[in-house]
Amino acid sequence: MQTRYTLAVIYGSTREGRFCDTVVDWVLTHLPDMIEADILTIDPVDLDVESRMARADVEHRIGRDLARADAFLVVTPEYNHGYSAALKGLIDAYHKPWAAKPVAFVCYGGVSGGLRAVEQLRQVFAELGAATIRETVSFAQAWELFDAQGRLMEPEVKARSLRKLAVQLTWWAATLKMGRETVQMKEVA
Ligand SMILES: Cc1cc2nc3c(=O)[nH]c(=O)nc-3n(C[C@H](O)[C@H](O)[C@H](O)COP(=O)(O)O)c2cc1C
Repeated sequence: MQTRYTLAVIYGSTREGRFCDTVVDWVLTHLPDMIEADILTIDPVDLDVESRMARADVEHRIGRDLARADAFLVVTPEYNHGYSAALKGLIDAYHKPWAAKPVAFVCYGGVSGGLRAVEQLRQVFAELGAATIRETVSFAQAWELFDAQGRLMEPEVKARSLRKLAVQLTWWAATLKMGRETVQMKEVA
């Protein structure tokens, strides 16, 4: 059974001139052909607003999108062996919408290709009751792998990794969606 689901792709960097845009664009170009999902994007840069009211509006919209999502794909760089403060701020701002949903990662950076940031994020998402999936797409020395138009110079290898990720993410999204809809988690007094 193939269940259509909603996937939220989350930007992991808010830096001006961020490489994250290139990697997210690559994901959004290829993933729709690999999954049966409605894809939306969540960008923590939207939270950089001056007024409190404007921020409340953005927080509300992001909260609604996170709640609507059945699965998450975090596109994260690595900064000093970790992930960005902006991404942590986004995750911490919302407690409930992550629980019993899968989280996959596409990561990038220098020598480690962002994998150390991903390992840290797995701990964070475990605390929120989310299930992180094994298959990850990683770009080491990412800026050397894309041309000036943002196209991968050797596209097939990474496309195969993204397909593997999509297969696992779809299984987890469908399974956990069914679980959330049909099995009540008992509270212990
Ligand atoms: C302060 C800083 C620390 C970084 N630390 C690492 C690191 O520990 N490991 C790594 O692989 N790349 C590291 N990088 C490279 C970044 O992952 C790379 O610049 C990436 O493009 C940042 O993502 P962004 O451009 O989307 O913000 C670092 C970059 C900066 C500016």
